[in-house]
Amino acid sequence: MMSNIPYIAGTMRWGTWGANFSTAQYCKAIQHCLEQGITCFDGADIYGHYTTEAAFGKALAEMGLERDKYQIISKAGILLPNAAPYFAQLKHYNTSKAHLISAVQRSLQDLQTDYLDIFLVHRPSPLMHLQEVAEALTYLLQNGLVKKVGVSNFSFEQVELLSSYLPLDCHQFECSLWRPQAFTNGVLHQCQQKNIQAMVWGPLGGGVLGQENQEQLSKAIAQMALKYKVSAAQIAYLFIQSHPISMQIVTGTTQLERITEAANTTAYTLAESDWFTLYEAAMGQEVP
Ligand SMILES: NC(=O)c1ccc[n+]([C@@H]2O[C@H](COP(=O)([O-])OP(=O)(O)OC[C@H]3O[C@@H](n4cnc5c(N)ncnc54)[C@H](OP(=O)(O)O)[C@@H]3O)[C@@H](O)[C@H]2O)c1
Repeated sequence: MMSNIPYIAGTMRWGTWGANFSTAQYCKAIQHCLEQGITCFDGADIYGHYTTEAAFGKALAEMGLERDKYQIISKAGILLPNAAPYFAQLKHYNTSKAHLISAVQRSLQDLQTDYLDIFLVHRPSPLMHLQEVAEALTYLLQNGLVKKVGVSNFSFEQVELLSSYLPLDCHQFECSLWRPQAFTNGVLHQCQQKNIQAMVWGPLGGGVLGQENQEQLSKAIAQMALKYKVSAAQIAYLFIQSHPISMQIVTGTTQLERITEAANTTAYTLAESDWFTLYEAAMGQEVP
């Protein structure tokens, strides 16, 4: 069972692409998330240049947790240059059936588990063959390698087309005060209409919070933080969390107290006029 809390712990920065956790630190972070009610962990084969899933899996194995007490998301379809196991010549995408299936099998091996709770096609390839992607996802579902399937960073039209072949469970896309396009480009409402779980990455703009050169936005965030007696990060989470279509939010932090801060945000809701104050600041202009 996926926890009711709308937060998911993103692991992209837990390995060599960020904090470079030791196994003990992975265990501590996983345990901390579970204690906060965050039971789902977001990963991808490429994180840490294909090393983070193995490090995460090692920690899970050491912890000996029951498999139904947590959920794992993984993604595949991106090939990084000069890195094992593919040693691609340049960064590119591969959404072929053979690649997606073998990438999932590799992730399962690294994670030391029998199944993924959710598998996402990481990015749409310009060479994507829709029927083949659908066949790969169907194969993964039918053979019990994954429980649910979805996509990430797809356009409205691409979701529309792929979901004519098979129902999608989840769409993970970027959305934040710094990248608010999902509120108007249709993907969010498409999730509602098709009963696809909307999942947001980069809720703090990938770390630009506090460093942004949008003065109006910084001021609006600071004012709201004072008004609601929460932190600036919590205002950024609330901006997403307050939307009536319930989105799950994938956090990116590597700091345990900041994970707690995200989990605690569930206690708040922004008034509609405050949401629009932030939106106006994010867009740099009044709504038409
Ligand atoms: N599907 C995709 O294509 C895709 C792409 C990117 C990411 N993702 C997933 O989404 C997750 C989140 O993405 P993201 O890392 O860009 O998210 P984010 O939450 O927008 O950014 C996280 C960064 O913000 C920093 N930060 C600064 N102030 C913070 C504060 N007060 N509270 C929390 N963090 C603060 C964090 O540093 P500290 O660690 O020092 O707190 C971290 O470096 C990733 O881990 C990954 O699982 C998916």
